[in-house]
Amino acid sequence: MEEKRKTTGGSRVEVEDLHLAYPRPGRDAEPVLAGITIRVGAGESVAVLGPSGCGKSSFLYVLAGLVEPTSGRVEIDGRPVKRPRPEVALILQETGLLPWKTVWQNATLGLSLKDPREAQRLRSALEDLGLAGLENRYPAQLSGGEKKRVGLARALAQNASLLLLDEPLAALDALTKERVQNLLLKLWRRHGFTLVLVTHDIEEAVFLGQTVVLFSERPARVIGTIPNPEMGEEAYRQSPAFFERVREVRARFTARWRP
Ligand SMILES: Nc1ncnc2c1ncn2[C@@H]1O[C@H](COP(=O)(O)OP(=O)(O)O)[C@@H](O)[C@H]1O
Ligand SMILES: [Mg+2]
Repeated sequence: MEEKRKTTGGSRVEVEDLHLAYPRPGRDAEPVLAGITIRVGAGESVAVLGPSGCGKSSFLYVLAGLVEPTSGRVEIDGRPVKRPRPEVALILQETGLLPWKTVWQNATLGLSLKDPREAQRLRSALEDLGLAGLENRYPAQLSGGEKKRVGLARALAQNASLLLLDEPLAALDALTKERVQNLLLKLWRRHGFTLVLVTHDIEEAVFLGQTVVLFSERPARVIGTIPNPEMGEEAYRQSPAFFERVREVRARFTARWRP
């Protein structure tokens, strides 16, 4: 029996006409996001798919409150994003682990652990993620997949209601990547957080996004929003519907890029 998804714990995200331009000394500011409008309901998952350099990471930094947009409305649970918030976890493109700290120390960075529930949540997250027993290892003693999972454990221990994932699996080999994708799907179903994942990997977007949002080249605009309601089970990856959706997404991009 499939467990029913909890969605009440997830944050609601509303982005309207978001513009971002990075200042450049002696030149006009470089536009990176050119009027992005996206809504993500509580507990939903959205995969943002776009070419390298189009502004995907920048979009997440704005949601995380790390970069201030040039204009537009960005709200999480109805409140404007002004600075980083504890309920929003950003998992960076790189593993984000400090090499001189152990798995446990890395996973507890930014957590006070004064709250015993936080330590308990971290223990159960490490267990869930297959990292129990590796707490005292250093990042250099872990595989690529294990390092990624430490970052996820930190987000889970934080009990985040919004997970922002920046190309989380780009550096992994194909099989490890599938395993971590399956794990992410399971965690999303079990914990009910809202997931915003950015990636340049079409299969990853279709496997993990209830909606796939297509970004144009820089400056990024939304060039398509593709519903993907069949996602949610590991077996989706092998189904004809999956291949059909991947084909549809690829066709939307190639149609644009034809000279
Ligand atoms: N802090 C920054 N200051 C200036 N330019 C930046 C900064 N971060 C990213 N950029 C530029 O913004 C563009 C988009 O980058 P990014 O958001 O990382 O794209 P993506 O994640 O899609 O590859 C790139 O041209 C990059 O060089
Ligand atoms: Mg990026």
